[in-house]
Amino acid sequence: MSAGPPAIDKAGFPGLENRAKKPARKHSGISSQKMIRIARVHIAAVTICAAIGLTTGIALAQSLPAGDGKDVVEKICSGCHDLDPITSSGGGTHDDWDMVVKAMIGMGADIKPEQEVVIANYLAQNFPPKQK
Ligand code: HEC
Repeated sequence: MSAGPPAIDKAGFPGLENRAKKPARKHSGISSQKMIRIARVHIAAVTICAAIGLTTGIALAQSLPAGDGKDVVEKICSGCHDLDPITSSGGGTHDDWDMVVKAMIGMGADIKPEQEVVIANYLAQNFPPKQK
């Protein structure tokens, strides 16, 4: 048979079919990639929660020793977790605590530069490295 007129039909219908199928294929591809990404994020979040739970879960409300900066530490540092990571820590030097404060800023703590100094001073004074 001649490939003349029928070829027009063939060119038309498969075209429509492809248009209908493509979005479905694309969608399932993206969603499975997304699922993997979501699963990875969940594993990370659960790991972090477990780590915090181990250090803070058992502790009841902790109170800090009196001193300059106590109020600031109490107010700012209990914003995301309780004060147990501080009170039950092994203590640290001024540099150690400065690093902790910087790490907390990195995690989103709203601490001004002048507060950072006050906090590091207070923590270094009241939570020095514990003797082994
Ligand atoms: C923006 C929320 C936030 C604020 C505010 C915050 N922290 Fe944290 N802190 C965290 C998170 C989240 C973790 C757990 C991170 C991890 O395990 O890596 C943590 C963990 C800690 C730890 C344990 C770290 C370790 O390595 O075991 C210490 C100590 C600590 N914080 C001290 C402080 C001090 C001191 C302040 C106040 C200056 C403070 N945090 C304020 C979010 C915050």
